Amino acid sequence: MRWSSALVLGLVQLCLASPHAKRWGDMVEKHSWTQIPTGWEYHSAPSPEQLLELRLGLKPHKMDELISTLYEVSDPAHERYGKHLSKEEADAFIAPHPKAVESVEDWLQHHGIDPSEVTHRSDAGDWVTVRVSVAQAEKMLGTKYGVYHHAKSSDYVVRTLRYSLPRDLHSHVDIVTPTTYFGTFRSMKATSFIQPEITPLELDVDTESLKVGEALSPDAVPPTSCNTVITPACLRTLYNTANYTPKATAQNSIGLAGYLEEFGNRADLQTFYNRFLPNAAGSSYTTVRVNNGQDDQSDPGVEANLDIQYAFSVAFPTPGVYYSTAGRPPFVADSQTPTNTNEPYLDWVNFVLSQSTIPQTISTSYGDDEQTVPADYRTSVCNQLAVLGARGTTVLFSSGDFGVGGGDCLTNDGTRRKLFQPAFPASCPFVTTVGGTIRTNPEVAVSFSGGGFSRAFPRPAFQDAAVSAYLNAIGNTNSGLFNASGRAYPDLAAQGQGFQVVIGGRVSSVGGTSASSPTVAAIVALLNDARLAAGKPTLGWLNPLIYKDLLPGFNDITSGSNPGCGTNGFTARAGWDPVSCIILDQPTLVAECFDCF
Ligand SMILES: *[C@@H]1O[C@H](CO)[C@@H](O)[C@H](O)[C@H]1NC(C)=O
Repeated sequence: MRWSSALVLGLVQLCLASPHAKRWGDMVEKHSWTQIPTGWEYHSAPSPEQLLELRLGLKPHKMDELISTLYEVSDPAHERYGKHLSKEEADAFIAPHPKAVESVEDWLQHHGIDPSEVTHRSDAGDWVTVRVSVAQAEKMLGTKYGVYHHAKSSDYVVRTLRYSLPRDLHSHVDIVTPTTYFGTFRSMKATSFIQPEITPLELDVDTESLKVGEALSPDAVPPTSCNTVITPACLRTLYNTANYTPKATAQNSIGLAGYLEEFGNRADLQTFYNRFLPNAAGSSYTTVRVNNGQDDQSDPGVEANLDIQYAFSVAFPTPGVYYSTAGRPPFVADSQTPTNTNEPYLDWVNFVLSQSTIPQTISTSYGDDEQTVPADYRTSVCNQLAVLGARGTTVLFSSGDFGVGGGDCLTNDGTRRKLFQPAFPASCPFVTTVGGTIRTNPEVAVSFSGGGFSRAFPRPAFQDAAVSAYLNAIGNTNSGLFNASGRAYPDLAAQGQGFQVVIGGRVSSVGGTSASSPTVAAIVALLNDARLAAGKPTLGWLNPLIYKDLLPGFNDITSGSNPGCGTNGFTARAGWDPVSCIILDQPTLVAECFDCF
């Protein structure tokens, strides 16, 4: 195919080395950091023979068209609403331009890389992986790699502070990994934490009122215990899903993306079901291992168990899928084993996009500070999440657990200004970002709820009315600390504290927007079920729908705030706000309303 003809072409070109040396010798910087990313330190020079899996992300040929298609299929008022793309249709949009492929092949040939050494090509052809030595990569990227150490997590990675590409490749190549994305992977906010201050429910107290077996009366109110401890019964009552019986379980499913060697424990899930949702006892879920992800049953993860126990119980009996994506294996400085490139989102999103069937709703409870993710990397990941939306999947991310920003909130661009620190991928407009709440009557924004304004992605038009109204209302509050024209988040919110989770056989209270995102995902999965059962397409990318005026079924959270960066943060108000926004309160009502579209 293309590679073999390129081989012949390449051999011919070897004889004409000098014009090529000129073409490929004109290097222009692609990305650089002004300082070593926070938390990392230079450790040593890697062995020149150390192997790297160098991954080249080729620019999708028709990304703009894919984005306009995404808007059309996600806008209830558009005639193409719900007409999501098949894998083949999406691949056609994201395939690189033939010229891009040709140029990259040429360049690889110039560096003596035989096409047979391409170890992987994505189906759409937008990703090319080659195995090269550090010395070779340094030549190709005009850079010097280092081994960097992250003290807090004891991680070692091979990265660089800057890299370049030939001028001619800039218009064809989006990113090269591993280069400047350090992604403090282990210390990345797995947005949940154990809450010792909230006494977990004892195993022997009478929790009949907290079990859901029978349908609840439509006006049932959550038990008062839901003010402090959350169980599936609380969520099913509070968000009015208890009376809905899923019907499309043969087609519908809900997915959870897990990283950081977080493994869900099946025995814990049974204990949880026996305790809190007896009619689900005996049911399980599918684990899909991505890039050698593991499923170690002797090491239950707090985040994984939280996600699994809540997403799968609230959506029960909707089939559940847990993706275990390998994180960062121990760094082995040996010249035989290539280092894992440790690009977890890319590994995961490339994997799901290669599948013809994808769960219709997927929740992820991980994130980085936006400023720590290189711009090219952010754009590439965010675009791929857009493809997932175009395929008809609702992609939810938790908004983060540090209000408007954790730590000193200083910028890392050399100027060390104090600015609110948005989270990524929460700040990507193509995901639906979920903030946290507490209490029940009324529900109030929880103080750690991540929220604010992206400094990287502009505000999409569908947010204009809602966000401008909020900005007008707050006047000069926090001015200068955030970019008012950035994509604003969260989009939705749900309970985020005191979740009763079984971990290693014992019940713990767990909180974080990590709890909120799987909760909303479960509700969206039920909405998708209602739509599929009615012969309608799934909801897909939710955001344009959420911001439509007067969409019934939402409950506006109007109090609470999210302090951070030494400020009081933002304050919740009537209408959209960057703390809690609105929650999906009555999905059965919303499901009925889908007849309107
Ligand atoms: C604010 O955000 C907009 C839209 O993303 C961007 O064009 C602009 O450069 C940003 N301004 C600053 C000061 O970061």
